[in-house]
Amino acid sequence: MKRGYQDSPSTSLGPPQSRARNNPGGDSQFLEDESMKIFARKVADHYSARTNQTLEEREASPIIHLKKLNNWIKSVLIQLYTRQGDAVLDLACGKGGDLIKWDKAKVGYYVGIDIAEGSIEDCRTRYNGDAAHHMHRKKFTFPARLMSGDCYEVTLDRVLAEDAPFDVCSCQFALHYSWSTKARARRALANVSALLRPGGTFIGTMPDANVIIKKLREAEGLAFGNSVYSIHFDEEFSEKKFKSSSPFDIKYKFHLEDAVDCPEWIVPFHVFKSLAEEYDLELVFVKNFHEFVHEYMKKPVFVELMCRLGALGDGNQDRSTLSPDEWEAAYLYLAYVLRKRGQPDRTEINGKRDRGLMHISKEDIMYVR
Ligand SMILES: C[S@@+](CC[C@H](N)C(=O)[O-])C[C@H]1O[C@@H](n2cnc3c(N)ncnc32)[C@H](O)[C@@H]1O
Repeated sequence: MKRGYQDSPSTSLGPPQSRARNNPGGDSQFLEDESMKIFARKVADHYSARTNQTLEEREASPIIHLKKLNNWIKSVLIQLYTRQGDAVLDLACGKGGDLIKWDKAKVGYYVGIDIAEGSIEDCRTRYNGDAAHHMHRKKFTFPARLMSGDCYEVTLDRVLAEDAPFDVCSCQFALHYSWSTKARARRALANVSALLRPGGTFIGTMPDANVIIKKLREAEGLAFGNSVYSIHFDEEFSEKKFKSSSPFDIKYKFHLEDAVDCPEWIVPFHVFKSLAEEYDLELVFVKNFHEFVHEYMKKPVFVELMCRLGALGDGNQDRSTLSPDEWEAAYLYLAYVLRKRGQPDRTEINGKRDRGLMHISKEDIMYVR
């Protein structure tokens, strides 16, 4: 569903004409920064323009089972790595689709930030219990703050100095938007590292570069996909070879039916892992979604959760499940967990939660630029 936004002035400038990596001068740096801002705005406008769906619209979605599977994967990550009372930072929180999951995990404090102003507004109404399909839900039990800003540009530890440290940082289906430049990727990881306590956990989901590159190489041209998704690379990648010396700004156009239609960037996982180590974030695990499902469906508690969410039917009458095309789309993603080095300081009590509110008005949303 589209909110009906006009293209912002920045997006109407069109795609960037210059690629700075071929011209490493001062001007080119400026052009690169400007073009990345244009792409970040494109992504923000795309997500801002999507309105909350009604329950009926959601159930009618051609990827309803994939959406449910994604929710199951995020729920499993949250249940595995969150403890009661934890302070949580949700980077690129979107419309607050994970608020209920955090509530079930009984978190003590929540800060959500997203570049898309429209999504933060939807998140606010959802948190307040004003969203149409949440009307009958009990109020969320944790205080929260919401912000709008570019998580891969802004030095968040300054903005959130009073709220940190966080026990858990989550970045669901969004870290790849930082991989347009090394500076943005570094900023993303620096923010996570600076805001997590020692021993704190960073959980997330993002596209699996290995799968995407493999599919690109198997495809006849520069595009591939099925009835629910398509991926399109530009001519500049026609050789389908990627230099290990340039692991950033490998852009493709991603379309996921009823969900996404915007530029995304390849995140070579080994580069992500070693860059994260520079910021004291150590890999706990990485799993493609297929492997993740097979592994956690061995645990009865998560089987039961899967039945409740209904991605693979409800275990009784409802035998509806992901279509083969949805299951193939799920293969495009991976889940990761990293841990911030150091021993948790048991004496440190996060007393910053009084900065959170139980009801958030429009004026309470902070815009960080
Ligand atoms: C696929 S949605 C995921 C939303 C949410 N995490 C979820 O799982 O439901 C991707 C989100 O990333 C956000 N995003 C993209 N680039 C961003 C940036 N530079 N800073 C903050 N948020 C960003 C988008 O606005 C969008 O809400």
